[in-house]
Amino acid sequence: MITDLNVELIREDFPILKRKVHGNTLVYLDNAATSQKPARVISVINEFYRNHNANVHRSVYQMSEIATARYEDAHKKVARFINARNEKEIVFLKNATEAINLVAYSWGRQNVGPGDVILLTEMEHHSNLVPWQLLAQEVGADLEFISVDDSGLLNLDDMKKQTKGRMKLTAVTQLSNMLGTINPVKSIAEFAHENDSLILVDAAQSVPNLPVDVQEINCDFMVFSGHKMLAPNGTGVLYAKEELLKEMRPFLGGGNMIREVTLRESKWNDIPWKFEAGTQAIAEGIALGAAIEYLEKVGMEAIKSYERCLIEYAIERLSDIQGIVIYGPPPKQRGGLVSFNLTDFHPHEIAAALDYFGIAIRAGHHCAQPLHEKLGINTSLRASFYFYNTREEIDKLVEGLSKIKKGFET
Ligand SMILES: Cc1ncc(COP(=O)(O)O)c(C=O)c1O
Repeated sequence: MITDLNVELIREDFPILKRKVHGNTLVYLDNAATSQKPARVISVINEFYRNHNANVHRSVYQMSEIATARYEDAHKKVARFINARNEKEIVFLKNATEAINLVAYSWGRQNVGPGDVILLTEMEHHSNLVPWQLLAQEVGADLEFISVDDSGLLNLDDMKKQTKGRMKLTAVTQLSNMLGTINPVKSIAEFAHENDSLILVDAAQSVPNLPVDVQEINCDFMVFSGHKMLAPNGTGVLYAKEELLKEMRPFLGGGNMIREVTLRESKWNDIPWKFEAGTQAIAEGIALGAAIEYLEKVGMEAIKSYERCLIEYAIERLSDIQGIVIYGPPPKQRGGLVSFNLTDFHPHEIAAALDYFGIAIRAGHHCAQPLHEKLGINTSLRASFYFYNTREEIDKLVEGLSKIKKGFET
C-alpha cells in the first residue's frame, strides 16, 4: 500500500482502539456516524476543566481571558483548515444539523419566497433535506432534486432544467454518507452562481476525510461536524462568506450575541458571535482546535490517499462474498465508506452478529431514507473507515460476514 501514514503509531493515540468487545479487540467501522478521539483531544478537555474553566467573552479575570483566547483561537484553526478568509466566517455550533437549520431559518426566511426553488439532490442526509422542507412549506417555495443515476453519481443534466431567476439556493452534499460518492461541488457551485443561486455544501463527510478549500469551491455556506473529525460531541461548524453573515438576522437570541439591549430592541454583536447565542460548548470547541492540529499533522492528502487504498481493498474483498450487493460508484469516485446488503439477510441481524466479533458497523437507513427508497431497499449495512483503520480490520469484517452467513445458512 502506498501511504505516508504510520498507522500503527497513529493507533497508539486512540485509547479506545484497545478496548475489548465480547472478548475481541474493537474493530470500529462506524466513523461516518462519529469518529473516535485521540488522547490529545481528550486531554485538552480534561486540562480545560482542571485549570481554566470559565465562561468566554464576559469577564476580565485571568481564567476567563485564557478561556476566551483559546476558544477564539480554535475558530482561527478551523478557518485555516478550510481556507476561509478569516475566523469571522466561522460559527461554532452543536453539529452540522444545527448549522443547516441556522441557514434555513436565518438566511432562508429572509431570502426565499413563494415560487423560489431550492435545489437539492436525491442523496442528501435528512439534515440537508428536512430543514429545506420546513422552509419550503412555510414560505411556499419549491424543492427540486438532482437525481442519482444507477452507478450512484449525480445526473448533473438535471441542473440545466432549472429556470434561471427562480433558483435561490443549491444545497448539496460533497460526500454521500450512504453511497460514498464524491460530488463535483466546484462545478455545481459555478452552475449555481451562473443561475443567481447561492450554494450550501454539506461537508459533514468530506471535511474529516479530504482536503477541503472553501475559496477554491467558492461555496457561500459550508457545514460540518467536529465529532466526525476527532473532536468531541457537541461541535459543529458553519462557514459562511463574511458579507452573508453580516446581512443575516440572528438565529437564536440571548446572551453573547448582542452588543446592546434595551427593553424593546437590541443591536447585534459582531460576527461570528452574533450567531453563537448563550454559553457555548467551550471546552469542546477548544478541543476541536486540537483535533484540527492533529489532522494537519497527519496531513489531509495522506488521509485521503490512505482511505482510498482502504476502500479499494474493502470493495475488492467484499465483492467476493456471494450474494452481496454493494451500492455506489467505483472506489475512484468515492470516499472511505461502503454500504451493502447481503441477499436474504436483514442488516440489523448482521450488524448485531458482527458485534459478537467486536466489529461495529452501522445498519439502518443512515438518515438517507429517500435514497434507500430510490435504490428499492429499506435499510443497508455501512462500513465507514478512518485513517486509523487497517486492512487487517477489513479482513476481520469480511471473515465475520462470511462466518455469519454460513452460520445462518446451516
Ligand atoms: C452527509 C451528512 N450531513 C449531515 C449530517 C449530520 O451531522 P450531525 O449529526 O453532526 O448534525 C451527517 C451525519 O451523519 C452526514 O453524514
